[in-house]
Amino acid sequence: MAQEDVFKKIVSHCKEYGFVFPSSDIYDGLGAVYDYGQNGVELKNNIKQYWWQSMVLLHENIVGIDSAIFMHPTVWKASGHVDAFNDPLIDNRDSKKRYRADVLIEDQIAKYDEKVEKEVAKARKRFGESFDEAQYLATSPRVLELLQKKEALHERFAVAMNDMNLEELKQIILDEEIVCPISGTRNWTDVRQFNLMFKTEVGSTAEGASTIYLRPETAQGIFVNYLNVQKTGRMKLPFGIAQIGKAFRNEIVARQFIFRMREFEQMEMQFFVKPGTELEWFNQWKDTRMAWHQALGFGAENYRYHDHEKLAHYANAACDIEFRMPFGFKEVEGIHSRTNFDLSQHAQYSGRKIEYFDPETNERYTPYVIETSIGVDRMFLSVMCHSYEEETLENGETRVVLRLPAALAPTKLAVMPLVKKDGLPEKAREIMDDLKFHFNCKYDEKDSIGKRYRRQDAVGTPFCITIDHDTLKDDCVTLRNRDTMEQQRVKISDLRGLIEDQVSLTSLLKKI
Ligand code: GAP
Repeated sequence: MAQEDVFKKIVSHCKEYGFVFPSSDIYDGLGAVYDYGQNGVELKNNIKQYWWQSMVLLHENIVGIDSAIFMHPTVWKASGHVDAFNDPLIDNRDSKKRYRADVLIEDQIAKYDEKVEKEVAKARKRFGESFDEAQYLATSPRVLELLQKKEALHERFAVAMNDMNLEELKQIILDEEIVCPISGTRNWTDVRQFNLMFKTEVGSTAEGASTIYLRPETAQGIFVNYLNVQKTGRMKLPFGIAQIGKAFRNEIVARQFIFRMREFEQMEMQFFVKPGTELEWFNQWKDTRMAWHQALGFGAENYRYHDHEKLAHYANAACDIEFRMPFGFKEVEGIHSRTNFDLSQHAQYSGRKIEYFDPETNERYTPYVIETSIGVDRMFLSVMCHSYEEETLENGETRVVLRLPAALAPTKLAVMPLVKKDGLPEKAREIMDDLKFHFNCKYDEKDSIGKRYRRQDAVGTPFCITIDHDTLKDDCVTLRNRDTMEQQRVKISDLRGLIEDQVSLTSLLKKI
C-alpha cells in the first residue's frame, strides 16, 4: 500500500476509535486545530508522563514548573519573537491559496530524492539479485545528475534563508518551475514575511486594553522563572527546568494532520550550564534524548539526527531528532545550544540582574542553556504511525492492530465475561474492581468474544481476559496477548503480577 494511503488510514482510524477529532467537528472543523478523544487523551497523558518522569524523576538536578500562557508583552520583544518569528509566505493568484515559500522549496528538494528512489527501484527490478545499490548510486549518470541538482538547490536555498532574501526565494520558486498544487499554475505573488504569533488583548476597556500574545513556545516561561527557581530551589549549576504546556502558532500551511497545528503542546527542558561546557552538554543531551525515543522499541533505523546548517544568530549548535513518518523523515524534537542569549536579553529588557554566583570559583556569570524541545502531538503522531498495522492472519482474515508500547496504551486490560449471564458479569466486575486501582481497565460484554478482541486490538489494549464458566469453579481466566494473540489460562490471583510490570511506565523508564 502506498505510504500516502497508509497515512490516510491512520487519520481515519484516529477519528473512528476516539483518538483525535477535528476541532469543532459539527461545524466542519477549524484548520490545523484538533481535539483528543477518550483514547487519545489517555495516550497523550501517558506520553507526557513518560517524558516528565524521565526528566524530573530520573534527574536529581531537574525540576518542573507550570508557567502561564499569557506573559508580559515585553517577553516577546526581548526573545526576538516580535521582530523575527516570521515565515516567508507566497500566494498563488489563480487558486488564491497561500503557501510557505520555504516549504514549497523543501518539497521540491524532497522530489529529487523521490526521483532517485524511483531510479533505484527501476534498476533493482532490471538487475535482480545482482543489483548493487551503492555502486548504482555512485555511477548512474541520471542519479548523479539528480543529486547534483538537488545539492545545488539545497545550497542556494540555505543561503537565501540565511539572509532572509525574499526576492531570491521567489526566484528559486520560478527557476525550479514550482507550480501551485491546486491550480497547477506559476502565477505567484512576491514573497512576504508573516509573523506567527497570535495576538489578543487584556483589559476591560478598549482604551485600557493592551496587546498580549499567546505564547509560541513554552521556553520563555522557563527563562523568566530562572531566578525564582534557582533561588527558591537552591539549585546549583548544572540544573534544568522542565515544562509541559500549550503553545500557539498561526501556521500558514496547515498540513499533515496533527504534525503542524495552530494550537499544540510542547515538552521543553532548559538546562543551565557553566559557559564553555555547553557543547559537551549539548552532545550529552542529544544521546539522552535519542535513548528516550529508542526505548520505545520502534527500531533505531527509524530515527536520525539532522544537524542544522543554518543556526539562529544566538545558537552555537542545533540538531533535530527526526522520525520516519509515512511522509518521510520529519522533525519530532529539537536540541539547541542557545548560549546565554535569552537570559541576557531578559536581563537587558527587565533591568534585573539574571546571573549565577558560582560558589566554587567565586565568579558571577550568565549561564548558558541547552534546550530540549519536543512536540507532544508530533510524538503522538509518530507513536500512532509506527503502531498501526493491518495484519493478515494465518487463516486469511485481516485485523487492524495498534502495537502501542504497553506503557503508553490507553487501556492496559480489557475484562470480558464470555456471556452476559450465569454470574459471569458479576465475577468479571469483581476482578475489575480489584485491578482498576493498579492500571487502566475496561469492561466489555457486548458482541462475540472475537469482535471484542478486534475492538481492543484496534485501540492497542495489550491484554484481555475472558471469564468463562470454568472461572467460577477454578478461579482461572484466559489471558490473551494483543501482539501474539496467544492465550493462556492463569490464576486470577496472579493477574496483577503478570500484567503490572509489563504495562508500567517504570519498566519503560528502566530501558532508557
Ligand atoms: N523552544 C524551541 C522551539 O519551540 P521549535 O523547533 O520551533 O523549537 C520544537 O519547536 C518542537 O515543537 C518541534 O520539534 C515540534 O515537535 C513541535 N512543534 C513546533 N511547531 C509545531 C506545530 N505547529 N505543530 C505541532 N508541533 C509543533
